Amino acid sequence: MSKVVIMNHPLIQHKLTLLRDKNTGSKDFRELLKEVAMLMGYEITRDLTLEEVEIETPVVKTKSKVLSGKKLAIIPILRAGLGMVDGIVQLVPAAKVGHVGLYRDPETLKPVEYYSKLPADIDEREIIIVDPMLATGGSAVAAIDVLKKRGAKNIKLVNLVACPEGIQEVEKYHPDVDIYVASIDEKLNDHGYIVPGLGDAGDRIFGTK
Ligand code: PRP
Ligand code: URA
Repeated sequence: MSKVVIMNHPLIQHKLTLLRDKNTGSKDFRELLKEVAMLMGYEITRDLTLEEVEIETPVVKTKSKVLSGKKLAIIPILRAGLGMVDGIVQLVPAAKVGHVGLYRDPETLKPVEYYSKLPADIDEREIIIVDPMLATGGSAVAAIDVLKKRGAKNIKLVNLVACPEGIQEVEKYHPDVDIYVASIDEKLNDHGYIVPGLGDAGDRIFGTK
């Protein structure tokens, strides 16, 4: 069964409220999303392993810890996932970034795949999928399918706002994938939007309609 982690750090929750506000324009929305992604990334990378190396400080030789070379891949689901990449990559600059392009058909709400470009060694990497919204769960399930077909095994899903329907869908098809969110909202409305949510994340990031 998927582990579901709600990140209720006060800074994350404060910035999430600003993101939800319909009066927050694209420039601020992008900056806030990047900041929240960085704060979420800090928690998500908590289990990275360390190894000891020998270094020399200006004073003495000593042993100190560094990340033990675990290979990470950040995979945004296009478009809106792009808004979360920079915040996390700033924390782990050695991570590779792959892309999975999916859009939700407005009539059927089913995901349509239009692009994917992944690191060649994706099967050896720990994977962090990022997308601000987990609504019906169709896009997340399809993205995980794409990654697993390429041999990916260790996958975390990171969403800003989720709802119970989306979480259940991911748990149904990919119970091995843990889900990290800033909020589990109440429900989906008849148009497949999360309530209360924050509207269309992609449109708010890129200023489209
Ligand atoms: C949004 C969002 C997710 C998807 C979630 O993308 O960024 O990818 O919807 O909905 P689901 O859980 O019901 O699949 P959208 O399809 O609007 O594309 P965009 O990012 O290009 O705007
Ligand atoms: N995609 C979004 O961007 N927002 C929602 O509320 C649902 C899907």
